Amino acid sequence: MAMYRDGLATQGGFDRGGLIVLPRPSLEYTDEVARETADIYERVKHSIPAIEWPVHAPYIKAINDLKKVRNAVILAHNYQTPQIFHGVADVVGDSLQLAREASRTDARIIIQGGVHFMAETSKLLNPDKMVLIPDRRAGCSLAESITGADVRLLRERYPGVPIVTYVNTSAEVKAESDICCTSANALEVVESFGVDTVLLIPDEYLAQNVAARTKVKILTWKGHCEVHERFTAAELLSFKEAHPGLEIIAHPECPPEIVAIADFTGSTSGMIRYVRDNRPPKALFVTECSMAANVQEAVPEVEFIGPCNLCPHMQRITLPKILDSLLNLTEEVTVDPEIAVRARRAVERMINLRN
Ligand code: 13P
Ligand code: SF4
Repeated sequence: MAMYRDGLATQGGFDRGGLIVLPRPSLEYTDEVARETADIYERVKHSIPAIEWPVHAPYIKAINDLKKVRNAVILAHNYQTPQIFHGVADVVGDSLQLAREASRTDARIIIQGGVHFMAETSKLLNPDKMVLIPDRRAGCSLAESITGADVRLLRERYPGVPIVTYVNTSAEVKAESDICCTSANALEVVESFGVDTVLLIPDEYLAQNVAARTKVKILTWKGHCEVHERFTAAELLSFKEAHPGLEIIAHPECPPEIVAIADFTGSTSGMIRYVRDNRPPKALFVTECSMAANVQEAVPEVEFIGPCNLCPHMQRITLPKILDSLLNLTEEVTVDPEIAVRARRAVERMINLRN
């Protein structure tokens, strides 16, 4: 049995830089587990059938207990499954909110409920903390679409043109850019330079959607989100026809033809806020499917309708893998220190823009 002091294990398992691999807790669905997770079930009952709860609840209790032992915090993106989002996350939000929270946490370990670029951003902002991603394969088609060498070529080709990179990129790409942006602040970041031309890379659709709202000329790249590029205006209009009163709420990674027919476009948290504030009778989130399930509890009167496109990368993060991360301190995210210095500057410039 491990002993703990100051939130850290001091005996048992093997030592990794002062942190110790812990024994596996019991994953039985006992009365105690049922009692301790009853409040959480209330929040997810719209999306998780009662019959499935005995599978999730023991993991939720074990993870919440272990977080205290490890002095760990779980930062979860709005796309994480309801059992993660409502069950074990300490902070939930869009990419900008998660980056901000990552820079504020006092915890010793950060577990990223999200994809690899998000964990890298947390590491950039917390070089002295241990950042873990429960599945290293959780990537992103946008991050895959461009390399640091590509950005260096763009800088040569367009000397003097500021380079804004979407946070959905590797640290190596961030390191070559002047500043980062997210879907929540892309327009503000682009306009912050006060110049006529800006490179906004690598998301072509985000760039086109920002270009439609500014006088700044925007040059871009051919990267796309594999989830958002699948939606078509024709399919969404057919939902609108079949459901009078339906509001279309889109993410700016969608093609411009979708943004043109949307009632609202914004970051994932912006989309959630819109539904909370406006309570349309029916809503179609043009984004990753888990988000409607996560917000349903807060707006029970809103009926969510539409196609369900899942992000295969986000879905790689599961409760069993989060538990393994906490127990075994895997997978640790590291960034080359020389790259980290430059990438951090680009992320911090974005975070400090309006603070
Ligand atoms: P947000 O920053 O709006 O949460 O978007 C991140 C993302 O990956 C959307 O696909
Ligand atoms: Fe990347 Fe798209 Fe998945 Fe977001 S939804 S993480 S942009 S692949």
